[in-house]
Amino acid sequence: MSATAQPDVMNFLNEVSSRFPAAISLAAGRPTEQFFDRLHPGALLDALTRYEQHALRSADAAAVRTRLLQYGRTAGMIEEQIAAQLRIDQDVPAQADRLLVTAGCQEALALCLPALCPDPTDVLLVCNPTYIGATGVAAGNRIALHGLPEGDVAQAVEQSVAQLQREGRHARALYLIPDFDNPTGRVLDEAQRRAILAVCARHRIVVLEDNAYGLFRYDGAAVPPMAALDEAGSVIYLSTFSKTLSPAFRVGAAVLPDTLFGDRAARHALWENLVQRKSYVTVNTSPLTQAIVGGLLLAEGGSLRNWIQPMAGWYRTNRDTMLDALQSTFAQLSDAIGWNRPAGGFFLSMDLPFEFDAQAVTDCATRYGVIVMPMSFFALDASQNRRIRLAFSAMTPPQIRAGVAALGGYVAQRLEQCSKSEMHAFAEAR
Ligand SMILES: Cc1ncc(COP(=O)(O)O)c(C=O)c1O
Repeated sequence: MSATAQPDVMNFLNEVSSRFPAAISLAAGRPTEQFFDRLHPGALLDALTRYEQHALRSADAAAVRTRLLQYGRTAGMIEEQIAAQLRIDQDVPAQADRLLVTAGCQEALALCLPALCPDPTDVLLVCNPTYIGATGVAAGNRIALHGLPEGDVAQAVEQSVAQLQREGRHARALYLIPDFDNPTGRVLDEAQRRAILAVCARHRIVVLEDNAYGLFRYDGAAVPPMAALDEAGSVIYLSTFSKTLSPAFRVGAAVLPDTLFGDRAARHALWENLVQRKSYVTVNTSPLTQAIVGGLLLAEGGSLRNWIQPMAGWYRTNRDTMLDALQSTFAQLSDAIGWNRPAGGFFLSMDLPFEFDAQAVTDCATRYGVIVMPMSFFALDASQNRRIRLAFSAMTPPQIRAGVAALGGYVAQRLEQCSKSEMHAFAEAR
């Protein structure tokens, strides 16, 4: 399965949202704004001051001012603190000397993908569907994509490697969101993670583990990140403060393994390659926002677990509200409609017995006042045409209830137009 052109999703959704400002958006996977008051200007200043005081313990005032206001070290300024936070909060064996502070996870992707897939015969493996930020970077860099069908990822990687080899191409990296996937909400269990690591190590495929949502688990035990299970030196771990603190900081990180498939020099060369690329992209991540993140980490004792508690509670309530609303709205249609129950993150996915495309987004917004995301926007082929992604992160519970009820109205109207054979085929397929 190879990539087809994806629509300009973000512009399309922005356009729909601006044409229907009153519509409830279950499309936007943004963090909630309910807790932004914890980051009011005074709190930001306190964090900056706290970082400055901390820095003054090992440098004089002029040097600290320079650090905050001058062009900075490309690899970052708070890499020790981020490495410590990832060790404490996520069990990721991160070390500062192989961590690159990036302008969000998005920049980490923009640096890593072309570094890992420099040749025309190099291929990036992705789940299908997957996060458009990754496939967008690949498209922008003319990196060939190969979509893995849903199901057993390790097996799909093995088969894809063989198929690509027959075509004279090489799978170089696998982009993966093991926890609370965007867009599907699924989690890979530990056995699946270990199987993927084994097959990737065998074929020297680098795993890019994007863990943007990992701290937002609402039930069940945490599964270790792949970076924590990696013994071969195959995982680059991508982290971000966009969901835990605020996307406005534009602070994230890429953490390289100790060795790249057993080769420490190769890992160091990759790290230098990434640093050089960054020096031509953003030069360095803003020292001021790094300092604020650093100050917040200091105030929190190095861990964000307490900080995110109220947010996780809010998201859990939103998820449960959405699940309840789906149940009461679609209970009568359980043969025709299905959805998953994500254990964390911001999204769930819903199966429909009819296609839901860009025109459906507009119809749904115009006539029912709700905006949802076609899963096809995240897909490399037509396999996702009958699915949508519902985000429960940014809305309030009353908005979620109203949005799901409105979606129910749209679905009921579409179902009336669905033929009996379509409904039967759908029930069979499920
Ligand atoms: C899976 C995933 N990765 C990366 C990002 C980008 O995050 P950042 O703000 O850190 O660039 C997002 C944003 O929604 C995301 O969902």
